[in-house]
Amino acid sequence: MTVAVLVLLCLAIGVGFLYWLLVLTEGAYLGPRAVAFLYDRGASSYDRVKEFDPVDDAWDLAMPLQKALKGIRRALILDVATGTGRVPLALLRNLDFEGHILGLDISFKMLQEARRKTAGHEDRVTLLWKDGLTLSFLDNSFDAVSCVEALEFMSDPHTVLSEMARVLRPGGTLLATNRIGLDALLMPGRRFSADQLRKDVSSLGFTSVEIKTWQTYYDLVWAKKDGRLSPGERSTELEDLLCCPRCSEPSLRWVSNALSCQRCGLLYPVEKGIICLERPLDKGELACSPELEETLGQETE
Ligand SMILES: C[S@@+](CC[C@H](N)C(=O)[O-])C[C@H]1O[C@@H](n2cnc3c(N)ncnc32)[C@H](O)[C@@H]1O
Repeated sequence: MTVAVLVLLCLAIGVGFLYWLLVLTEGAYLGPRAVAFLYDRGASSYDRVKEFDPVDDAWDLAMPLQKALKGIRRALILDVATGTGRVPLALLRNLDFEGHILGLDISFKMLQEARRKTAGHEDRVTLLWKDGLTLSFLDNSFDAVSCVEALEFMSDPHTVLSEMARVLRPGGTLLATNRIGLDALLMPGRRFSADQLRKDVSSLGFTSVEIKTWQTYYDLVWAKKDGRLSPGERSTELEDLLCCPRCSEPSLRWVSNALSCQRCGLLYPVEKGIICLERPLDKGELACSPELEETLGQETE
């Protein structure tokens, strides 16, 4: 009897633990591959489950972002963990917005949904398949950087915030969310207290840090990187901002339908309208793609 109860108890604890690992925290403690796997599986039903209200998103996200970017011609925004394209879509719906958005995510299928939903705007929304823990961009590249409902899924939210600060231009705007309430108790080490968040964000060189409760389970954080955002023209070309994730050099050039690193020779192909920084092709794989090899040969001659 006692052994049976003990076995049942162990089973219940095991099932509960698995439920926490896979469902409640969506693989966050198992690493980016697990998160990507679970989000890939749920990508097609994500919007239906979340039921975002476009009016709320316009009011809470797009309008304040647009206001912060006022006076900047062709503003450049990086949306870390863009998912199915919520932030890019909210900005595109805003008729005053004329900028370009780079959406980055670890789940290829979530990005495919984002590509489908932003069809017709390929010239204004670039999608990158990439882990957000390190941002492969030069310092001071973007006018605004956002990360909505996602910091808690990354192994080190503080590192992500510091990467966001690094790639933001002086005077640029940070938009991030932080889990709060009962939900946050389920994610130890992945959320901040409001005080800790304010301190952390300020220590990264941000001023005017504003934190307010948003959608019950999140704090919405707005902050400005110290300095003045100069409205002058500058390059918004990907090749001028992006670094090779492997060798960290800003030496990527378009060659046919792929970005090629002039330094380490890796190739990052574009598949289904998404730049695959997570899965470079090496020379061996290139040999399996005679078409691309031939084009590369012609273009580098
Ligand atoms: C709850 S969704 C939020 C998506 C979108 N920002 C929104 O508000 O709808 C979390 C997203 O974070 C992405 N994600 C989780 N860990 C990531 C990582 N290490 N790098 C990049 N994206 C990540 C997931 O793939 C997923 O698309």
